[in-house]
Amino acid sequence: MANTVSDVCEMNGVSEGMDLLHIDVETDVVEDRPGREAAPISRNVLRKQRNWERQIAAKKSKRKEEKQRRKLNREQDSAVSADNPQFTKRVMKAITKERLAEAQSTGLKLCVDLSMTDSMSDKEVSRLAGQLRRLYGSNKKATRPFHLLLTDLREDSRLYRECLRMNEGFLNYMLDITEESCLDLFTPETVVYLTPDAEEALETVDADKVYVLGGLVDESIQKKLSFSRARELSVHTARLPIDEYMVKKNNGKNFHSKILAVNQVFDILLTFCDTGSWTEALQAWFPQGKGYVVAPEDCPPLLVSQSQT
Ligand SMILES: C[S@@+](CC[C@H](N)C(=O)[O-])C[C@H]1O[C@@H](n2cnc3c(N)ncnc32)[C@H](O)[C@@H]1O
Repeated sequence: MANTVSDVCEMNGVSEGMDLLHIDVETDVVEDRPGREAAPISRNVLRKQRNWERQIAAKKSKRKEEKQRRKLNREQDSAVSADNPQFTKRVMKAITKERLAEAQSTGLKLCVDLSMTDSMSDKEVSRLAGQLRRLYGSNKKATRPFHLLLTDLREDSRLYRECLRMNEGFLNYMLDITEESCLDLFTPETVVYLTPDAEEALETVDADKVYVLGGLVDESIQKKLSFSRARELSVHTARLPIDEYMVKKNNGKNFHSKILAVNQVFDILLTFCDTGSWTEALQAWFPQGKGYVVAPEDCPPLLVSQSQT
């Protein structure tokens, strides 16, 4: 039979609680002698006891939480990545980080020119922030990512605020964010401004060049804005080789557009760099609703479109 408070505590395996109680076990002995009523416990002792119980409970729940966290970590470690079943998520994260770091020193360079956001509505600015998130997401997944630069992005701009609001971890993105323009950073001869209104089609992606996408969203279609911007900068322009590899597809609305969102153009460039094939890149990423399809490889687009008319 337990005779004292210390006996009880030790039997319960909670002797550590005695320190918390600060009870002097020599003086606060509770006697259990037959025929004698137990001495009433003072308020002070009760308060200490409740305090002690609360602290024990808190410790217990903290231990439980830690156990759960360790279990979750173990599960994440052993979870396999869908793309690379041989790697754990943690390993994949490290590889991605290494690839992006490498790209920032040796990768193909691509700027998103964010100097034209003043002409955009709040809704367009929000959509652009989302497109930048997707563009970065694609770069993260790429085997050979680009060195990305968000140029002309001022910290006091609507777009910057929107990127912070909408894009989790935006400030940790592994890309360059600068208030400078692409021409403050690179010589005009190296710059190729991609615009749907260029005369020349892009043939290849060259490591000596810097590619620029216009940070624009076309809700209220502002024609030739990126083309005018390229003219103003006096840099070379190029369009995606849609006319060279695709043909118009009949659709009910007779809608045909060669204007894509920045992240869609970027996906096409990534796949082209990976495969060296415009057919593959356009097939994979050109949005279906735009009214074009990739022409059969053995039938050049010009012939196909002529036979369709
Ligand atoms: C939504 S578009 C902007 C279209 C806008 N009307 C303009 O003035 O270019 C956003 C950006 O994606 C790129 N882009 C879109 N479609 C393209 C295409 N067919 N060829 C080359 N670049 C394209 C351009 O850099 C363009 O500035």
